[in-house]
Amino acid sequence: MSSRPVKVGLLGLGVVGGGTWKVLTRNAEEIARRAGRSIEVAAVAVRDVEKARRLVGGDVFVTRDGLEVVRRPDIDIVVELIGGDTLARELVMEALNQGKHVVTANKALLAKHGNEIFAAAHAKGLMVLFEAAVAGGIPIIKAMREGLTANRIQWLAGIINGTTNFILSEMRLRGLSFAEALADAQRLGYAEADPTFDVEGVDAAHKLTLLASLAFGIPVQFDKAYIEGISHLAGEDMGHAKRLGYRIKLLGITRRREDGIELRVHPTLVPVERVLASVEGAMNAVQVYGDAVGGTLYYGQGAGELPTASAVVADLVDVARLQAADPEHQVPYLAFQPDAMVDTPILPMSEVVSSYYLRLRVEDRPGVLADLAHILADCSISIGSMFQEPHGADDADIIFLSHQAREGDVDQAIQKIQTLPFVKSEVTRLRVESLL
Ligand code: NDP
Ligand code: HSE
Repeated sequence: MSSRPVKVGLLGLGVVGGGTWKVLTRNAEEIARRAGRSIEVAAVAVRDVEKARRLVGGDVFVTRDGLEVVRRPDIDIVVELIGGDTLARELVMEALNQGKHVVTANKALLAKHGNEIFAAAHAKGLMVLFEAAVAGGIPIIKAMREGLTANRIQWLAGIINGTTNFILSEMRLRGLSFAEALADAQRLGYAEADPTFDVEGVDAAHKLTLLASLAFGIPVQFDKAYIEGISHLAGEDMGHAKRLGYRIKLLGITRRREDGIELRVHPTLVPVERVLASVEGAMNAVQVYGDAVGGTLYYGQGAGELPTASAVVADLVDVARLQAADPEHQVPYLAFQPDAMVDTPILPMSEVVSSYYLRLRVEDRPGVLADLAHILADCSISIGSMFQEPHGADDADIIFLSHQAREGDVDQAIQKIQTLPFVKSEVTRLRVESLL
């Protein structure tokens, strides 16, 4: 075991930073046995210096200025746990400039600026590790970057936002309102500083963007992701989904097709018998399908203090172990060698192929169903099943499940349906995935 400890500069001591401090402190001996040397926090940057000093004591340098930490000559690894993509970007870029390895849990930062950050790190032969940025404590990055390297990955689908999964579970299982469930998720430390990132699917899209790069060897392209969150999800659709044998989950899905790559986050009807349908609370799960291995599934806590710290500390141990390795032989940031990335296009949403759930309210009179069926047929959409529920004396809600269809065709059908005189609501459209 080396006698010189690895010195860490911790930017942020909130939910994840505090958890990282706790894990490094309480498991110090076990971690040193694994890393081959001890890992010590030497400096911390926070806003509330007094609060931080109460936690870390007098031996650790505490400052409000992250740059002071990043520029300290004794720091080997900078751990960025502040969040956001402005100050965090400045600090990470300066850390690399100063020759420090970087560990971060910040998916927003990497989804938007990953290409720039990885290029800067590569130029300096430095590591940037981000296990905690995707699916909290689940070692999904490690699995994709190392465990599945033999495979041509076909697709992956995951519940990769703990807050929204928690909200959907609490609404369904405990009858909580959306607002109550979100407040609980915030209290438990799952939500982002701006919880609209969770609720509107942005956080899941940040993570999916990184997973797609790891799966297919493409640059990070968050701006091309399709994003739809859960804020407009109606309780009645959850009820209808149940009746049809499905559960609604916010999924991130990326799939390799001949003509490009699908990259999308949206509420999805998942058959109840699939494992992903049973993932409740803040748990995350990612299903990855590789041509050699077939289906694999990764499950665990997707958010919160200690699970996320588990991933941060695992990255720290990796850096401690590999610090001396020849940079050319380190594991590549995005699983593929930087000069072997490809520019396979991300497909527009109109080219995505899925099954669809459509719900609309209509006047309950002869010919209505026939007209709807004609429009769907004209747009090449085949109906898998349908049912109708009366609404008052004169109206009915009609629910269709389609077979696989092109999203552009579904858009066209919805536009036509919306002009029919007997249609009395907006058409609700949700996507359905068999996950087989
Ligand atoms: P918190 O809000 O709990 O903590 C943020 C920390 O950053 C605080 O310690 C805060 O200081 C410090 N900070 C904020 N602004 C500054 C600044 N200008 N200068 C110095 N320090 C500053 O966030 P989380 O721990 O929840 O999240 C951190 C990162 O981890 C984010 O990128 C998030 O997306 C990611 N993440 C979070 C998970 C979770 O479950 N919470 C899970 C996975 C990833 P002070 O304490 O003084 O306020
Ligand atoms: N806000 C995120 C979530 C934290 O709820 O999943 C973990 O990345």
